[in-house]
Amino acid sequence: MHENTPEITEIILKARDKAIKETSREAEPEMTRPINWPVDCIVGPGLEGAIACETRIGYVNGSKGWLIYRGYNIFDLCAYATFEEVSYLLMYGYLPSKTQLAAFKKKLIEYRTAHQTKRLLMGFPIEKMKSMAALRLGTNLMRQEFTDVDSEKYLDNVARIIAADEDSIPMETTPMGEEHAIYEFKRKQREAMIKEDLKHATGFESCFHLLAGVASLTGGIACLRKGRMPIEHDPELGFAGNLIYTMTGKKPTAIEERIMDVCLILHADHGMNASTFAAMVVASTLSDVYLSVGSGIAALQGSLHGGANERVIKMLKEIGSEENVPAWFAKKRMKKEKIMGFGHRVYKSYDPRARVLGPLARYMTRENKASKHLYKIARRLEKEVINTLGAQKKIFPNVDFYSGIVYSSMGIPSDMFTPIFAVSRVAGWTSRVQEYLRNNRIFRPRAMYVGPFDKEFVPLENRGNKKQSNI
Ligand code: COA
Repeated sequence: MHENTPEITEIILKARDKAIKETSREAEPEMTRPINWPVDCIVGPGLEGAIACETRIGYVNGSKGWLIYRGYNIFDLCAYATFEEVSYLLMYGYLPSKTQLAAFKKKLIEYRTAHQTKRLLMGFPIEKMKSMAALRLGTNLMRQEFTDVDSEKYLDNVARIIAADEDSIPMETTPMGEEHAIYEFKRKQREAMIKEDLKHATGFESCFHLLAGVASLTGGIACLRKGRMPIEHDPELGFAGNLIYTMTGKKPTAIEERIMDVCLILHADHGMNASTFAAMVVASTLSDVYLSVGSGIAALQGSLHGGANERVIKMLKEIGSEENVPAWFAKKRMKKEKIMGFGHRVYKSYDPRARVLGPLARYMTRENKASKHLYKIARRLEKEVINTLGAQKKIFPNVDFYSGIVYSSMGIPSDMFTPIFAVSRVAGWTSRVQEYLRNNRIFRPRAMYVGPFDKEFVPLENRGNKKQSNI
């Protein structure tokens, strides 16, 4: 595997060895045991520390800086596997055999055309929209192109919970004459049906459609934003190669294809982050996996989450040169502003994904003057931030710090960075949605009411223009 890019494997293995040397392999016992509900945990603002569910999909050890998918460490997966294998692993829980992988790849090729959705997208002003808004729209439009529910094969299967839309859920009438979805009433039966559904993997089809389709839409959106027609996939290229090709129109080199593949593996899953949680909350209402992934895309767009990589490039350009870094950083510190691409809710050590992306950025920019310049500013900034905030506040580079430099050096425009993140994260979102639905319970936290009581209602005509305080 990866015989044609041994130098990339070597870079990844070096990063792995460094990580092993600098951290340890111990799991946190309090975060790696079965839950006995109800669970005691200390919850901070933004649900920090809250435990929402059990999972077998992935584990992030924030204090040591480890990322595990289904028991495999991220470095080994990047060094030896492909994104298609990793997506299969996340979804099914085991690495595919040669035959299983071939069938999986065939399925992704079958689903990747998304012609109808791209045609629908052309009716919208894609060039004026944010690329992530276009991707979310496209994902929702894909719902019209295909679902399990629409496919003849599954028409008689009432367990089409995940992809079902409101009208396709069988209804029954209550004594009061109101219609309610059957699943409200027959929980046991529904659970049995979901299990049966998963056994036959029917619910997975929409997930695979999304995995292939979101990548295809990303390529299409990149073209449409430049006023060009979407490019057809190249049968000679794999998933990662086609992602570059359909976005840029340029055939990637073996190195570029491999590095994109590694980037996709690195971004595929990451615990209960904001976008994964958003996708799971939507799925937990027994909504639709297309809408669920659409919600993940919406959450990922934010600059505190996936949108940070685009802002990193803007920031590096604004800094302008290595020499400007200290003064620029001092000004930011004075204003107490956050530095894009640094810090993490869970990692209080060096993000393992940045351990791989940093050296890959260095490798990719060695012959590209403009990107090399950005890389050098980034390295200088990293030193400055770690020296000041590393030990004190546990602030280190995160996954977004170097990914933008890698993508820029491939000629990918910065407005497509977050969509690439989304392409990869579809694997994590859909795997976690599938896993959660096996023991689904609708997410429903509570808020502490701190407002007043017993206010006297003032009729409209008697109200003054007073300003509201404590909104
Ligand atoms: N630059 C400078 N200081 C930072 C920082 C950053 N990027 N991220 C966190 N801090 C500081 C905060 O100012 C705060 O300091 P204080 O204790 O003096 O108030 C402390 O670290 C805790 O920050 P907080 O915002 O509470 O952490 P969080 O867990 O809520 O936020 C992020 C995590 C990712 C949202 C935050 O680190 C951030 O905004 N980073 C920049 C955006 C980014 O790169 N996002 C991609 C994440 S993968």
